[in-house]
Amino acid sequence: MERGTRTEIPFSNHWVYEDGALTCDGVPLRDVADAHGTPTFVYSGSCIDHAYDRLVAAVPQPCLVAYAIKANSNLHLLRRLAARGCGADIVSGGELRRCLQAGMDPAKIVFSGVGKTDRELALALEAGIRAVHVESAPEIDALEAIAAERGVRAPMTLRVNPDVDPDTHPYIATGLHETKFGLELDAARALLPRVVASPHLRLEGVACHIGSQLGGPDPMRDATEILARFAVECVEAGAELRCIDAGGGWPIRYGDEDAEHAPWPDFGAAIAEGLEAGGAAKLGLELIVEPGRALVGDAGGLLTRVIFIKEQADKRFVIVDGAMTELIRPALYDAYHAIMHVREPGDAAHRPADVVGPVCETGDFFAIDRAVPHLERGDLVLLRGAGAYGMSMASNYNSRPKAAEILVDGGEARVIRRRQTVEDLWRDEL
Ligand code: LLP
Repeated sequence: MERGTRTEIPFSNHWVYEDGALTCDGVPLRDVADAHGTPTFVYSGSCIDHAYDRLVAAVPQPCLVAYAIKANSNLHLLRRLAARGCGADIVSGGELRRCLQAGMDPAKIVFSGVGKTDRELALALEAGIRAVHVESAPEIDALEAIAAERGVRAPMTLRVNPDVDPDTHPYIATGLHETKFGLELDAARALLPRVVASPHLRLEGVACHIGSQLGGPDPMRDATEILARFAVECVEAGAELRCIDAGGGWPIRYGDEDAEHAPWPDFGAAIAEGLEAGGAAKLGLELIVEPGRALVGDAGGLLTRVIFIKEQADKRFVIVDGAMTELIRPALYDAYHAIMHVREPGDAAHRPADVVGPVCETGDFFAIDRAVPHLERGDLVLLRGAGAYGMSMASNYNSRPKAAEILVDGGEARVIRRRQTVEDLWRDEL
């Protein structure tokens, strides 16, 4: 997370200049903008496939990759990942319905979140998901009651809060004592006998999630070790554990997306070390990981057009038609996203500018004081690293219809979500 004056344009196999024009897997982005308008999310299908394969190669096996669909829940992308064997980590009934709609195997779905409603828990049981990650004592009561009503045993894990510093932005840290997520270890321990004895609960495993975009593999190692020790305690308490879920947090390199791949093998090794150090390696458990941005972040870009260049004393604003309504990460976390020109800039001189959207918020910016090459009204730019937490956090603020989503696959650009119309904005209003 940074604000600043970096100028590097990331190298990429998927987003490259051909004959002076930026392309996604061979498709010129100018053509995408001409055909579908802007702002538009563009995704590289092959980049998602490669990310999934690289991640699978990095994790100790056997392992279920449960994609955290909050990163990007487009049905087409879910189907694509499911076809490769991917499961899902969900946080709402809506996300569950999306996974089912995409044809995902319910036995590969885990359900996280601190505030699941009775309706959502019932939906999860009816669908036959792999496990509900329980995060509080009252959630156990609710799950047990709903399972009892239906005469079933609810598959669950205890999601613990290992109180490990994830070395990331505070808004996306989830495994520290002061955050709302997971059960304190002592609380989870105290609940164990009751969970193990219940005829309506089946303790499938243990889980944790310490944060997103981890600063390095060490927190992953430490959290997994704590989780592994707790798994051993569960087995000693009589639970027939089947899995251990080491959460998400696999980072991507914003601003430096493809210079070298993020060091995922180090994260996989950190999990293996943690399992070993915590004594769980010998338990023969299936590992679950819940990556979100790692699978889709680099695969997406936000294509947007310059509306105006506004010059004022000591300041230049590049005003584009994309905004915080499409990509809220800079406003929310001061996040850095590389900006590429769709027309190859060549040796054009760089000058500092604020790249901003049209929304009426001072926080509606993509870059502050960023050195960008010469841009003119009508030029196109691409914001990199927008495949994760872009569209999924998009809003209609300022009555802006949501952007289209385009998938580039096999040399063709396909609409996988049409642009909203203004009529869509008031369709549900009385
Ligand atoms: N599992 C659980 C339980 C989570 O809460 C999250 C993210 C993930 C997995 C996936 O984390 P990832 O692999 O994507 O880092 N909107 C923020 C991210 C918030 C993520 C919250 N939980 C952003 O744009 O950076």
